[in-house]
Amino acid sequence: MIILAIDTSCDETSVAITDGRKVLANVIYSQVLLHKKWGGVVPSIAKRAHEEKIDFVVEEAMKNFRTIDYIAVTQGPGLAVALEVGIKKAKELAKKYNKKIISVNHLEGHLYSPFVQNSQGNPKIDFKFPYLGLIISGGHTEFVIFKNHLEYEVIGSTLDDASGEALDKAAKLLGLGYPGGPVIERLAKDAGNQDFHKFPRPMLKSNDLNFSFSGLKTSFYYFFKKQPHTTDAVDIRRLASSFQEAVFDTLIKKTEKAIKQIGINRLVVGGGVIANTRLRKLMKDLVKKYKGEVLFPSYKYLTGDNAAMIGVVAYYKAEKRLFVENIDELDRIPRMGL
Ligand code: KG4
Ligand code: ZN
Repeated sequence: MIILAIDTSCDETSVAITDGRKVLANVIYSQVLLHKKWGGVVPSIAKRAHEEKIDFVVEEAMKNFRTIDYIAVTQGPGLAVALEVGIKKAKELAKKYNKKIISVNHLEGHLYSPFVQNSQGNPKIDFKFPYLGLIISGGHTEFVIFKNHLEYEVIGSTLDDASGEALDKAAKLLGLGYPGGPVIERLAKDAGNQDFHKFPRPMLKSNDLNFSFSGLKTSFYYFFKKQPHTTDAVDIRRLASSFQEAVFDTLIKKTEKAIKQIGINRLVVGGGVIANTRLRKLMKDLVKKYKGEVLFPSYKYLTGDNAAMIGVVAYYKAEKRLFVENIDELDRIPRMGL
């Protein structure tokens, strides 16, 4: 089953061709350089860049494929003006090729991302439901019980900033540009991934599985402002390292709480933040303690936003014949939940 999938939820224009769980082509045009100097994604710039690049990205992805069975597109959550570009293109293609559309929730994509295979069918892991899912990206930090194909129950989420957003904001404060996660990872590694300044670990005392990172951000802000030599490279590294440790320690301790409360020791983790090798190690150590396992996306491009994961979700939706009934009525849902 050949699916052409489109994701324009934020700042990457991505189109993929998938066959079941296999990715046959995946093209991503990243707008990161356009947003960098603004320290975050600027909606009007994102919209224009998606509009300018979408045709080229579609053509590149379709280069070696003539037959397509379905068109899949991200309906939400994401930036309204960005989502619209992908949805409009999906409708155009569906009409041109007389194909059905499958609408996909971007968060489902991140949850399925550890199961996405390359064209050779690797990794070969099978689904062993249920999983404890964790989505950690620039826009989301959510615990989900991934019960079966297309069956989810959200059991915790952030009350304010997402984990990736917290890293992005700290990086911006340190003058490190956008996105913050990769730079902070590098600096933290240079500093030995240690806790030089003990920043707060928010929400660890609460009994629920929710997160809140805005207090940590504020505490970091005031600490930074009081530092006498904030341009010193060593200081910056230590600050980056300590901040990253605070975010990750919070994620790990909450995940431990979730494992205990829910009683599931098989984890799937998706989203941009799980590109981080320090966090992967902490997650592996955690599940070892509970004799469980943790699955991450096997290829780096699958941690960030990509259409391949959307195509794979669409395959499971197509098997259940979950198609968009009236194409003209398909509209973006910027705050779509799982
Ligand atoms: O999944 P994603 O590409 O987009 C959203 O759906 O939000 O996630 C982007 C987030 C950004 O906050 C970015 O700083 C973070 O993922 N990120 C990382 C790393 N690479 C990207 N965070 C920590 N370590 C990384 N290596
Ligand atoms: Zn995403």
